[in-house]
Amino acid sequence: MPARARLKKILLAIGLLSALAPPLLLAQNQKRCREIVDTSCDTCHYKTRICQVLGSRGRWGWKRTIKRMVRYGARISEQDRETLLDCLVKASAGEPFACSYTTPEK
Ligand code: HEC
Repeated sequence: MPARARLKKILLAIGLLSALAPPLLLAQNQKRCREIVDTSCDTCHYKTRICQVLGSRGRWGWKRTIKRMVRYGARISEQDRETLLDCLVKASAGEPFACSYTTPEK
């Protein structure tokens, strides 16, 4: 294959990868966030409590919410807090990781 054509293919592959990576990463994160919510946030109250306010709070608001839950006694690692915070901030209303108990997203 001539060098130009090979370069074109490589560029195409890079383009495809960078277009696909963010949604894939997001899906991966959501899976993790479901686990975090199910283990750390679905004990004192149902996660529907979280579902109800999804999409209506910014990073600052969610950070305060998580801090308050930790003060109440929620057990969640620093790293999980960050991961969950990210999911909560990006989530729109009804996002399954915090709203559904049945359909696990891939
Ligand atoms: C130790 C018990 C406990 C755990 C664990 C817990 N919560 Fe809560 N949560 C509460 C209590 C009590 C309330 C009601 C009082 C309040 O809102 O401050 C509440 C209310 C809420 C609300 C509704 C009030 C609001 O701010 O809109 C949300 C959202 C919430 N929790 C999110 C979470 C998240 C996210 C987690 C996991 C990190 C979590 N909770 C884990 C005790 C807990």
